Amino acid sequence: MKITVVGAGAVGASCAEYIAIKNFAAEVVLLDIKEGYAEGKAMDLMQCASLNGFDTKITGSTNDYTKTAGSHICVITSGIPRKPGMTREELIGINAGIVKTVSENLVKHSPDTVLIVVSNPMDTMTYLAHKVTGLPKHKIIGMGGALDSARFKYRLAEALEAPISDVDGMVIGGHSDVGMVPLISHATRNSIKVSEFISQERLEQVKEDTKVGGATLTKLLGTSAWYAPGAAVSGLVQAIACDQKKIFPCSTLLDGEYELSDLCIGVPVVLGANGIENIVEIELSTAEKEHLQKSAEGVKKTNGLLNL
Ligand code: LAC
Repeated sequence: MKITVVGAGAVGASCAEYIAIKNFAAEVVLLDIKEGYAEGKAMDLMQCASLNGFDTKITGSTNDYTKTAGSHICVITSGIPRKPGMTREELIGINAGIVKTVSENLVKHSPDTVLIVVSNPMDTMTYLAHKVTGLPKHKIIGMGGALDSARFKYRLAEALEAPISDVDGMVIGGHSDVGMVPLISHATRNSIKVSEFISQERLEQVKEDTKVGGATLTKLLGTSAWYAPGAAVSGLVQAIACDQKKIFPCSTLLDGEYELSDLCIGVPVVLGANGIENIVEIELSTAEKEHLQKSAEGVKKTNGLLNL
């Protein structure tokens, strides 16, 4: 199993590190446009191998896509991250050009790859990848919901004063501060609805804290987060590489599901060897349904800024 990660910045390098530590892949190729940068990160990570006990071979390349040839999974983290006060949508001008070039180059060298898009504004970048690569829709996956759900579980555990392993929850919708739809109606503590433990008011707070999860970190760090984004991507990569058939909320091209079409937005999907094995349609509360429709309008508005 060969995996390429484009962009050796903080998110790309964390992603490569988590993939290596989980020790399921034969090879990870890190690629970056900055001369020597991916090679340096790859060497540093390889020097962790004996310490952390992994056998995954990590190599780096300065923009040489021939090194990525035959990748089973390619991850795109390239582009600029947001600065404090910026929305993800504001990155579209620069990142659209980068994601277009990167996805075309990746698919040229790995025509059968599954593509995971992380660059922001992620749902729109995932849609762009569909438009420029022509890959079948089950092979293009946007990573946002897995990260947002991890942040939701963190906030739920905090509010419930419970261990995170006791908590389950999912965030669907667009990967944006207003577009995220944390599914309170489905959130549980050890299979018991969370509303049995805490007030509706506290749950609303959890929801709001979850939606600005990325913005909160960007303010604290001066740039966007990388550990949880990297870990979330590695989870998707593992589910595909190991054909786990796990459910994650991912951005995927919809064609009537959830009464939405011609956009990529986060919904629960089963991930396996083929990429998206199927889209799972679940019952939503009226408020969640409305929120998802509004979120989709926002994503479509951002898609409208693409020069397609
Ligand atoms: C975040 C970025 C990766 O939410 O979108 O941290």
